[in-house]
Amino acid sequence: MSLTFRAFEPTPVDFELHARLYSAHSPEDAIDAGHVQRTTDAHAAKFEYERVFAYLDGEPVASMHVSKPLWFDSPHMTYHTVSSDPSIWDTKWHEELWNLNEKRAMSKGRSMLLAFSSTLQPYDEAWLREHGYEQTQMNIHVACDLDAFSVADHAPLLDRLSSEGFEILALQELEDVGVDWRRPFYEMELELDQDIPVPEPLLPEPFEEFAERSKNPLRYPLDSLFVARQNGELVGVSMLYPSRVVPERMHTGLTGVRRPYRRKGLARAMKVRAMQWAKEHGKRTVFADNEQDNPMLQLNRSLGFAEFKREYSFQKVILREDLSQSDREPLS
Ligand SMILES: CC(C)(COP(=O)(O)OP(=O)(O)OC[C@H]1O[C@@H](n2cnc3c(N)ncnc32)[C@H](O)[C@@H]1OP(=O)(O)O)[C@@H](O)C(=O)NCCC(=O)NCCS
Repeated sequence: MSLTFRAFEPTPVDFELHARLYSAHSPEDAIDAGHVQRTTDAHAAKFEYERVFAYLDGEPVASMHVSKPLWFDSPHMTYHTVSSDPSIWDTKWHEELWNLNEKRAMSKGRSMLLAFSSTLQPYDEAWLREHGYEQTQMNIHVACDLDAFSVADHAPLLDRLSSEGFEILALQELEDVGVDWRRPFYEMELELDQDIPVPEPLLPEPFEEFAERSKNPLRYPLDSLFVARQNGELVGVSMLYPSRVVPERMHTGLTGVRRPYRRKGLARAMKVRAMQWAKEHGKRTVFADNEQDNPMLQLNRSLGFAEFKREYSFQKVILREDLSQSDREPLS
């Protein structure tokens, strides 16, 4: 048996192939070709994507990705991952592909490698731990069955907040009445980002990019992004995004409340409102993930979310002598 490689091209065939390999590797986070095309268009040049497909005896078995980190403001880091088909996980090819991809990542010459893995991809986790990667964060992924979720249980909280002058609205409702929400919302999000535990500082999105993105309903679904307001001032946010491939599933984005407004039940209330929206729109499940010590995890559990995987962030320091051995091997 032999491995061969081919560079990813931004074509419909390769969007489809990457989506297929990624989804086979991480079915809980499956994507489609449209998603690959949108993210490639938006990020490939900026984050210097280098993707290669690996074939075993002519059959595609993995998509190997190297780039700058997409989410973190870390110019010293290179992110890499191998999305391989489960049929090769317990073979020597899995190890071989990670070894090769690490060499590709090291050839960027940066001092740190970044990678992720989870309990649902145990062979990746094992490879990373055995090859000198240190775990820097653990996020717990949880899911809530909306059939078991009752909005009525939370009516007293929603009534109390309403009597205190808090409103919970979808961004679409603000858009519909011509409220100029983008700048204050962007500033609130930057403020909240400071308090989210992350392995590295987040890369702030320029306002102009956010403003553009927020006009594209595929990237920014205003009807499932909720905010809390008091006296017209934005004080919190809770975001749900539709799954890219499972119509009845929603994924949770940022939930956050500005510091002076915490511990009043606003995060819980916005989540309840968002889950009510999801139920009303025929959704069955909501996914979320939080750093293991984030109070949001407890809040989610109390709303009926249950754990289904643990995700690990890993980093590996690259020494100067490692770099000199990392001459890139041709993948062909
Ligand atoms: C996490 C966060 C959204 C909670 O917002 P909040 O409006 O204060 O939360 P609520 O008032 O609805 O809290 C509901 C329950 O969650 C738990 N909780 C919330 N904050 C907590 C904290 N700091 N410590 C312990 N428990 C906490 C409590 O059980 C609380 O109920 P209680 O007040 O009756 O004890 C807020 O702290 C925040 O914005 N953090 C920064 C952003 C972030 O990390 N978001 C999550 C990752 S996306």
